Amino acid sequence: MGMASLRFLHVFFFFHLILHCHSLSGSSDAKLLVGKIKPSLQGASESLLLSSWNSSVPVCQWRGVKWVFSDGSPLQCTALSSSPPTQWTNLSLYNDSSLHLLSLQLPSANLTGSLPGELGEFSMLRSLFLNINALSGPIPLELGYASSLSDVDLSGNALAGAFPPSIWNLCENLVSLKLHDNSFSGALPEPALPNSTCGNLQVLDLGGNKLSGEFPEYVTKFKALKLLDLSSNLFEGSVPDGLGLLQLESLDLSHNNFSGMLPSFFGDSKFGAESFQGNNPSLCGLPLKPCLGSSRLSPGAVAGLVIGLMSGAVVVASLLIGYLQNKKRKSSIEKSKPGKPALNWARRHKIALGIARGLAYLHTGQEAPIIHGNIRSKNVLVDDFFFARLTEFGLDKIMVQAVADEIVSQAKSDGYKAPELHKMKKCNPRSDVYAFGILLLEMLMGKKPGKSGRNGGEYVDLPSLVKAAVLEETTMEVFDLEAMKGIRSPMEEGLVHALKLAMGCCAPVTTVRPSMEEVVKQLEENRPRNRSALYSPTETRSDAETPC
Ligand SMILES: *[C@@H]1O[C@H](CO)[C@@H](O)[C@H](O)[C@H]1NC(C)=O
Ligand SMILES: *[C@@H]1O[C@H](CO)[C@@H](O)[C@H](O)[C@H]1NC(C)=O
Ligand SMILES: *[C@@H]1O[C@H](CO)[C@@H](O)[C@H](O)[C@H]1NC(C)=O
Ligand SMILES: *[C@@H]1O[C@H](CO)[C@@H](O)[C@H](O)[C@H]1NC(C)=O
Ligand SMILES: *[C@@H]1O[C@H](CO)[C@@H](O)[C@H](O)[C@H]1NC(C)=O
Ligand SMILES: *[C@@H]1O[C@H](CO)[C@@H](O)[C@H](O)[C@H]1NC(C)=O
Repeated sequence: MGMASLRFLHVFFFFHLILHCHSLSGSSDAKLLVGKIKPSLQGASESLLLSSWNSSVPVCQWRGVKWVFSDGSPLQCTALSSSPPTQWTNLSLYNDSSLHLLSLQLPSANLTGSLPGELGEFSMLRSLFLNINALSGPIPLELGYASSLSDVDLSGNALAGAFPPSIWNLCENLVSLKLHDNSFSGALPEPALPNSTCGNLQVLDLGGNKLSGEFPEYVTKFKALKLLDLSSNLFEGSVPDGLGLLQLESLDLSHNNFSGMLPSFFGDSKFGAESFQGNNPSLCGLPLKPCLGSSRLSPGAVAGLVIGLMSGAVVVASLLIGYLQNKKRKSSIEKSKPGKPALNWARRHKIALGIARGLAYLHTGQEAPIIHGNIRSKNVLVDDFFFARLTEFGLDKIMVQAVADEIVSQAKSDGYKAPELHKMKKCNPRSDVYAFGILLLEMLMGKKPGKSGRNGGEYVDLPSLVKAAVLEETTMEVFDLEAMKGIRSPMEEGLVHALKLAMGCCAPVTTVRPSMEEVVKQLEENRPRNRSALYSPTETRSDAETPC
């Protein structure tokens, strides 16, 4: 039997039972409380609070319950004026079948029994709070017929067994479902109707149970969800990307056995590592440790890397480093590009934006983030339209480890290595951001970072040079003269902004650095005003490729 027909059977079964229950409704909710609910909830022990549920006590004086009439008007049990309302002493209400149970709230009431199936017969019951008691046994299937339920809190009991599928029948009215700290086990059942959105459900707290199986993916369709707690269960498998569709304010997936790569949006979300702690050691990605290793790249991503590398090599037109370092000297490249165009700020900006877009794409445009790991001017190829391409990205994924390590250690002496990489070997998106910051400083200052043979082995620390200049109030002097050509106000033309952005990228603390997407946004919002050089009619090709 297929899944669809099983679901249908389910719905049919509930419908059938609801009809059956209806035929019993000649009796009143008050009688049901005394006859069925009270004996079941109190178990073997006598509960003081429940002893008030007695036909010789007016229903207004029963503890933990509120009443409503069929027409929706509440039973006023508390005095509005000085004299008590007549209902306070009215014993006949006990037999009134138009009087319905509105709420049943007995938290911390020393209840020791189990939940009776008759709870499903309260057609107007909205809230059921029996949290912090010693109730045991399963949630009865029939609870799914209490179709008005919106707030359910059964946390802190000893309830066990499988999670009844019927609970999702309530899902369109449910606002809050809290079942924390019980002993529910097994997989979570799917809602009977596919694509249920549980449009009002804001709180789903199933933490502290023994639930197992995959992440309940259908939860990602619950559009109103604000709090999701699946912590301290036995869930396994991956955390779905679909969670990014929700506007969650609180998320706890800690202490399960989730594995694999976290969806990339968690890198920028408000949720810290504590939301994901204590899972399978393979669970990775921000805010946990970054994911690395070829085993986690999908075959598609690897193919993309190889194709990217090949096309990068084919389109070489000139090397940025040739422009930046040997402006005065004749380089082998210059011997061929007579009439080399000046690298003014507009062109450098276009190159920087091209690199930033490339990196942002690697970090977020793929199903799995790709870390470049080797950002430096040597690995940026620039064509005659100042269209930048990144090469050598992801080499560590396809090379033997020793060679990959060699590349990382070389990055150190070249001055592109983020401080945190001196301690740990593995790169992450934010270490790419650091290297990009150095590269942007290199373009702004016209100076090569790191150890330079020509400087007699002196180590050039670009961020420190900028900091010193700012302190000495000589900031404007750090800019490369060629970049400043034709610029009247470095402030208005985005030069100063780019300098600040580069310094932000080079922040020693990783979490302070912007994401590459943010860098792209900032560069796009702070363009040089004079871009005519980039928009001459002969340059339409590059316009098409990099919409500026
Ligand atoms: C709870 O019930 C047990 C007996 O079932 C009793 O000994 C105990 O005093 C009760 N506790 C409270 C706080 O009522
Ligand atoms: C109701 O209370 C009376 C005494 O107040 C008691 O004798 C009687 O057994 C109780 N009835 C039920 C159903 O608990
Ligand atoms: C409820 O109705 C029954 C008869 O159906 C009657 O015996 C009983 O006394 C009534 N109870 C109250 C509290 O009015
Ligand atoms: C007592 O409740 C009964 C049943 O709902 C109702 O018919 C009657 O009017 C009430 N009596 C008073 C004095 O409110
Ligand atoms: C559920 O949603 C999926 C994808 O959004 C769609 O393909 C499918 O037809 C929907 N099913 C129903 C029963 O609406
Ligand atoms: C966690 O999941 C892995 C598979 O991803 C499985 O091999 C392992 O046994 C699980 N551990 C526990 C404690 O369930």
